Amino acid sequence: MTAADDLTRIAQDATGWRRALHEQPELLYDLPKTSAFVAGKLRAFGVDEVATGIAGTGVVGLIRGAKGAGPVIGLRADMDALPMDEKTNLPYASKVPGMMHACGHDGHTATLLGAAQHLAATRDFAGTVALIFQPAEEGGAGARAMIEEGLLERFGIESVYAMHNQPGLPVGAFATRPGALLAGGDRFVVTVSGRGGHASAPTKSIDPVVAASHLIAACQTLVSRFSDPFDQVVVSITYLDAGSAGALNVIPDSAVFGGTIRTMNNETRKAIEAHLRRILKSGAEQFSCEAELDWRPGYPVTVNDPGKTALAVEAAQAVAGAAQVETACDRQMGSEDFSYMLEQRPGAMVWFGNGESAELHNPAYNFNDDAILPGMRYWVTLVARELGAAA
Ligand code: NI
Repeated sequence: MTAADDLTRIAQDATGWRRALHEQPELLYDLPKTSAFVAGKLRAFGVDEVATGIAGTGVVGLIRGAKGAGPVIGLRADMDALPMDEKTNLPYASKVPGMMHACGHDGHTATLLGAAQHLAATRDFAGTVALIFQPAEEGGAGARAMIEEGLLERFGIESVYAMHNQPGLPVGAFATRPGALLAGGDRFVVTVSGRGGHASAPTKSIDPVVAASHLIAACQTLVSRFSDPFDQVVVSITYLDAGSAGALNVIPDSAVFGGTIRTMNNETRKAIEAHLRRILKSGAEQFSCEAELDWRPGYPVTVNDPGKTALAVEAAQAVAGAAQVETACDRQMGSEDFSYMLEQRPGAMVWFGNGESAELHNPAYNFNDDAILPGMRYWVTLVARELGAAA
């Protein structure tokens, strides 16, 4: 049997695994069934080592090449679903109310498992492949939690790769870019404190509502006056709360607002936070108020290493042909916690096509099973490129 036959056969099995995972979505770190499924498959494939319980439900499988010593590369898949109801009417739709695989992590997991089965059977490389199955990509920073538990040092991982499906990109096509691929996403809440009183006598109080209004407007200058126009930044104020509609003759004691900031450069991210602090402090003082900032750091900017991206592009081109690989795709303002791994080790994340489908995080979304085979071929080819064997 040729390698191509083997991959095609495994992809058929992997479609079954994907649908089984789709039926039983689990959230954040609470993935007992999913992680047991993954660990069970890895053991059945005969990988050399299966480590479980990393960051709760994270799993790592190690496959050592038959061609001797070499580098250790990490291939990462995310396993968690989203807290939402599914509306696909698929025969294998979620059996768990309020939970759904609406970001395709079921597909990512099945695709990496498929590649693992082939790699464990062939071992046609020098070095070690670390298969990283992480919990809590959707807002729980599972990648960071695994890193904090020693993921990279424990297994000696020297480079890291990830793949995420993309609706709208044709099945079998790939897209990536060197440098920033996805934004850093931080959140913040500001409490503006004044002194409440009767609305007919504003001089006897310190009005936090007027102060907050000015501060919200001033926040817009973070983009318009404090950011390089070629360096994308988004500031959105999404939350505002003060006083009561039932007490319109009362100036409240405080006003609260908050929002999110997206940046494409980790230096810009730090600079914007510093500008925000200054605007809030001096702006609040103008109105004799105090503004307290609750800064809630989110995922960092996802930054692809140029050299590793070139390698990823070569692998994708070998699988799909040059015409089907975008090498300088648009950056996106979403965030991804693989960014934590890319902060620690050089690597690259690529998009792979999900075809015409509902958008990610939409109740009608479904991972496209036809993407499993090209996805598996990408992983296998990448291992061959990075670990020095013929693909
Ligand atoms: Ni996702």
